[in-house]
Amino acid sequence: MYLSFYNLRTEPFNMTPDPRFLFLSRHHEIALASLIYGIQFRKGFIALTGEVGTGKSTLCRALVSKMKKDVDFSVVLNPLLSVEGMLKAINQDFGNPIDSRSMDGQIEGLNQFLLQKLAKGRNAALLIDEAHTLSVQALEALRILSNLETDQSKLVQILLVGQPELEAKLTQTELRQLNQRISIRCRLEPLGATETRTYVYHRLSVAGGQGSVSFGKRCVVFEDPALEFLYKISQGVPRLINLYCDRALLQAFAQRQRVVTKAMMQEARKDVDGVTGPSAPKISKSLSWKGKGGSSCPSS
Ligand SMILES: Nc1ncnc2c1ncn2[C@@H]1O[C@H](COP(=O)(O)OP(=O)(O)OP(=O)(O)O)[C@@H](O)[C@H]1O
Ligand SMILES: [Mg+2]
Repeated sequence: MYLSFYNLRTEPFNMTPDPRFLFLSRHHEIALASLIYGIQFRKGFIALTGEVGTGKSTLCRALVSKMKKDVDFSVVLNPLLSVEGMLKAINQDFGNPIDSRSMDGQIEGLNQFLLQKLAKGRNAALLIDEAHTLSVQALEALRILSNLETDQSKLVQILLVGQPELEAKLTQTELRQLNQRISIRCRLEPLGATETRTYVYHRLSVAGGQGSVSFGKRCVVFEDPALEFLYKISQGVPRLINLYCDRALLQAFAQRQRVVTKAMMQEARKDVDGVTGPSAPKISKSLSWKGKGGSSCPSS
């Protein structure tokens, strides 16, 4: 409802993983480059992890839209399926429905499909979101899929995306064969303080089009103390930034103001967390913002 007042075409702080809004923080940029590299060079297994709300699904959607001209993707969003159900879903999303109910039948159908793709010079990638919820049996089935290969290359690149628990899961003894096959591991971290500010203006800019954030031209400005407070309460987690900014903008709109103040951000925080509830996320040590820390994407 504040769209026309702020001259915005669409909501700037939506909760959906819309790739048009992708902001490439240093970690997101490294991760995206690593995923593209892993798929292009047919590296087999790739793992992308990150805390809740750090942008894994958004990054993956951006990846698919960037690569889909050259790569056939199968995207599985609901890994809580039986092994056979998962294989069926994989084939279906590749546009290769296979009737067989058996695991072998599904794998054979997939193999034939992937060989045809290879013959046409196409690459194929399987993307499993929420992969931390996969059962050990399903992960084992994926390992078997990764054995689909020619002498020269993997037929399908498998991208496992999930919360940090995925990393722990992969260290289980029964999954050590799979763990050893993961050639690229990326980890998304929350944004730093400066990135949080840039992220806010980036989203406003995408929502309003070119020039939408320059103050004289209309739109809205977040004053520095508001952004500092925002970083403190969100710890740089994009989903929380969206939540707080959406409410803060509503506060500003209620007063027909073009400047979002710290007081408005504090009100927004109360709206989101409840009057008593400080819900500043508890970020684990490995997720704490390390300023200009090292790469989150070591290749193993
Ligand atoms: N790099 C980014 N650029 C733009 N928006 C982002 C970015 N990262 C996250 N967001 C926004 O934050 C919200 C949460 O992102 P997303 O759903 O991708 O997180 P996630 O890591 O997949 O979370 P979950 O663990 O709950 O699945 C979305 O509204 C998304 O648009
Ligand atoms: Mg997600």
